[in-house]
Amino acid sequence: MAQDDNGGTELTPAGSSAVEVHREGDPGTAVILHDPVENPGFPPHRLRVTDIDPKKARRAERVIYTLFYLSIAGSVWAIAAYMAFPIEDNDPGSVHLNNMFIGLGIALALLAIGIGAVHWGKALMHEREGIDLRHPTRGKAQTTERAAEIFRIADEESGFNRRTLIRNSLIGALVVFPLPAVVLFRGLAPQNENPVTLLSHTMWKKGLRLTRDPSGTPIKAADVTLGSAFHVIPEGLNEREDALEQKAKAAVLLMRLKPEDLHVSPGRRDWNYDGIVAYSKICTHVGCPVALYEQQTHHLLCPCHQSQFDITHEAEVIFGPAKRPLPQLPITVDSEGYLIARSDFTEPVGPSFWERS
Ligand code: FES
Repeated sequence: MAQDDNGGTELTPAGSSAVEVHREGDPGTAVILHDPVENPGFPPHRLRVTDIDPKKARRAERVIYTLFYLSIAGSVWAIAAYMAFPIEDNDPGSVHLNNMFIGLGIALALLAIGIGAVHWGKALMHEREGIDLRHPTRGKAQTTERAAEIFRIADEESGFNRRTLIRNSLIGALVVFPLPAVVLFRGLAPQNENPVTLLSHTMWKKGLRLTRDPSGTPIKAADVTLGSAFHVIPEGLNEREDALEQKAKAAVLLMRLKPEDLHVSPGRRDWNYDGIVAYSKICTHVGCPVALYEQQTHHLLCPCHQSQFDITHEAEVIFGPAKRPLPQLPITVDSEGYLIARSDFTEPVGPSFWERS
C-alpha cells in the first residue's frame, strides 16, 4: 500500500499488499508493518458492451439524453398540472387530482434524472477500479495539484465536455426541475391580492370595541385595573368566516399603567386612555404571539426568541432579535365607557419585512 507524503488521496493498484510505513519522528504512532492477510486484489477487468461496440455506446448515449429530456418534460408537466387542476374550495376531488398530477410530474422529473445519471455512470463513464486510502485531511500544494489533475482526468473519462448532448440535456433537466417548486410556493400567497397590502391592514377601525379573547365580550375602561392585562380581539371577529386569519393580524394586548409612567411621543398623546394602552400581540421579529407581561417592569416578552418590549416607552425593543417596536393601537372610550379603537394600526403588524416593502 502506498502513502502520499502530502496526506493526499492516492489510488492504489489492485493486488498490492497493505504496509504502513513508520515515519521518523512520529512518537506514539501504532504501526503495522505487514498486513497478515494478503490483499486478494480485484477480479480480472471485463469490458462492457459499450466499451467494445461503438454502436451500443451511441445507443446508451441516446437513452441517457432521452431520460434527461423526459425529466424536463416531467417538470413542465408538474407546472401545467398545477394550472390545469387547481384546488377548489370545498372540493376534495380537486385536491386529489391536483396532488396526483403534480406528484406524477415531479416523480417523473426526479426518476428520469436519477436513472439517466446512473445509466451514464454504468454504461459510458470510465470504470477504472481503485482503492481510496484514508489520510489526514490537511493538504499541501502538491495535493491540490493532484486533485486538479484527478478532476481533469475525470472530466476526460466521463466525457462531460465531449458528450455535449448528454451534458446539455442534464443541465437543462437540473435547471428546469426546481421550477415546479417556485410555482407551488407562489400558490401559498393570497390569490389576486397583494400580500403586502393585505398584511398592512387589520380589522380594527374607528369605533370598533375592544373585546375579550376568546369570549368576545366588550371591555369597559373601569374593568382594566392597574397592573392588569387583557388579551383582546376586535368586536365581531368570532362571527366572521375568516376569523382565524383576522385574529392572526388583529390580536392585541391591553394593559393599564400609571399615566405618569408612560413616555408618550407628541403624535400619540391621545392614543392611550387614562394609562390604558393597547399593543399588537404579533411579535415584530417573526410573528409569534407576545403573550407574557411582566407587571413590575412593564415589559412584554416574546417566548419564541426572547425579544422584550418596554411598554413605558411605546413598546420599544430592549432585548432580543426584534428590530422595531410593537405597533400601538390608538384607543379611547365610547359614550357607554367601553374601550374602542380610534383607527386601525398606523403601521403593518408582525415581522418587519412588510414595513420595508
Ligand atoms: S418571534 Fe418574537 S422574538 Fe422571535
